[in-house]
Amino acid sequence: MVEKRRNKTRKGVLRMTYIIMGPQGSGKGTQAKLIAKEYGLEHVSIGDLLRKEVASGSEKGKMLHEYMKQGKLIPLQINNEIIKEVLDKNKNIILDGYPRNIEQAKFLLEHAEIKAVIVINISEEESIKRLSKRLICTANNKIYVEDQITDQDKEECESQGGQIIKRDDDKPDAIKKRLEIYNKETKPVVSVLEQKTFIVEINGEKPPEQIFEEIKQKLKFIK
Ligand code: AP5
Repeated sequence: MVEKRRNKTRKGVLRMTYIIMGPQGSGKGTQAKLIAKEYGLEHVSIGDLLRKEVASGSEKGKMLHEYMKQGKLIPLQINNEIIKEVLDKNKNIILDGYPRNIEQAKFLLEHAEIKAVIVINISEEESIKRLSKRLICTANNKIYVEDQITDQDKEECESQGGQIIKRDDDKPDAIKKRLEIYNKETKPVVSVLEQKTFIVEINGEKPPEQIFEEIKQKLKFIK
């Protein structure tokens, strides 16, 4: 079915890349953290890397923020540089938030061996419902649900020098734009990738623990 490419890093060590995809709020970040822990992978969230750059206050960060707060994709060139750097670090990774269009998918296929792509599906209504309640800790990117937050959560985040906040792209206009881009540009990436690697499709409208179990079950069949 798939012709496996054995891409090696510059140091000659075999590198393995998993990808997690799905619409906004489908639980990519939530599941990627669990998968990373289970399989000894590094969780690379492009969104988190970009937010770190924004928080640094650099000129580049200011420019990125203009795209992100409107829910738009950041320019291809910057993204590819980030990915190149991540891949050159020579680790087994799970990529969360990349690729998001055909150009990015082509770039990735040239630079990495993709072990599997996990696609989490949820409805647009569910995306909007979840994102309007999501909060994150600025210190460690931990994800919270607004009405379930505890004093202990706040203390934990503050003790690391962070604050629990609403992301500025989790507002109605930006959510709408992000979903539009997902449907138009990101969804078609799945059919490009399925010609090269294994696709694992998951219904994301179940409890997180159940989704994680299903992912593990399906990954068992991928050599
Ligand atoms: P990014 O940070 O990657 O955002 P995203 O793709 O929009 O995804 P989200 O983080 O919103 O959702 P998620 O699927 O990770 O869900 P989560 O686990 O948090 O990207 C942000 C921006 O950066 C982009 O808009 C763009 O500007 C830029 N960017 C990033 N990558 C780029 C690229 N490749 N090219 C160009 N630009 C790029 O869960 C959501 C909520 O639901 C949480 O509250 C969680 O607790 C809850 N939840 C999770 N699972 C469940 C469940 N099973 N049941 C109920 N609730 C659940």
